[in-house]
Amino acid sequence: SRHFLGLKGVSAEEITSLLDRAAYWEGHPNKVNNPLQGKFVSNLFFENSTRTRFSFELAQKRLGADVLNFSAAESSVQKGESIYDTVRTLESMGIDAGVIRLKPNGVLQELAEKIKIPLINAGDGNNEHPTQALLDFYTMRKHFGAIKGLTVSIVGDILHSRVARSNLWGLLALGAKVKFCAPPSMQAPELAEFAPYVTFEEALQSDVVMMLRVQLERHDTGLLKSAEEYREHYGLTVERSNRMAPHAIIMHPAPVNRNVELDDELVEHPKSKIFTQIAHGVPIRMAVIERALS
Ligand code: CP
Repeated sequence: SRHFLGLKGVSAEEITSLLDRAAYWEGHPNKVNNPLQGKFVSNLFFENSTRTRFSFELAQKRLGADVLNFSAAESSVQKGESIYDTVRTLESMGIDAGVIRLKPNGVLQELAEKIKIPLINAGDGNNEHPTQALLDFYTMRKHFGAIKGLTVSIVGDILHSRVARSNLWGLLALGAKVKFCAPPSMQAPELAEFAPYVTFEEALQSDVVMMLRVQLERHDTGLLKSAEEYREHYGLTVERSNRMAPHAIIMHPAPVNRNVELDDELVEHPKSKIFTQIAHGVPIRMAVIERALS
């Protein structure tokens, strides 16, 4: 089956072909498309989501698939049923593909070894969020014309970020340079060999400054003294944004903690691509679902 679990080890050619297919779909926004007519796709979200869940659903509906939404909170997961038994149950009923978001690390890989229908990763623990990275690449390519040769700074909670990891693997494959900037408690030391940790001032000198959400729900209490202190040292403030190059852009996967990692005034600033990124999530996910079911 054609699982889509992450970007680690995926070639530049494969990424580019998905971006090209997304461009095709972006160019056909109002067409009724039925390539997936008669296919049943289930969205299996074991962790909360707004953007990923709804853009997958829009993508599936625009491709003519029948959509079955699952949310763990309303399911027999509440009676203690495991993730494997849940996915195996839907597979046995005859769904054709599953889009899955999970809290724990490593579980998706295990599931993929046992489940035959294609599984698409919608974010697993702090491992990967490959469709987010693809929509980020799509946004960069559309703005700059090419990704090769760009410098991308990823700033914030690298330790807990699946977005940082998927971006890192894909950007390196595409020939971009990646820099990280994070407080010591939010660094992932195992990634330092792939991207250097730099000061915020150096991070501001890149073509792309990608801010990450501080994942308060994944931190032990006490790690963050206060939102104000975080903003002071690691937030992209209006004042810091003035030191970015005129051509440089601000990205963020959202949801944003306004006035923590990113100032309120910058969310919809001309330099910000945040809502453009969100819009690109639909054609990107159309390309990914098509690939899984073709
Ligand atoms: N960027 C992102 O994955 O957002 P959601 O958690 O709302 O899907």
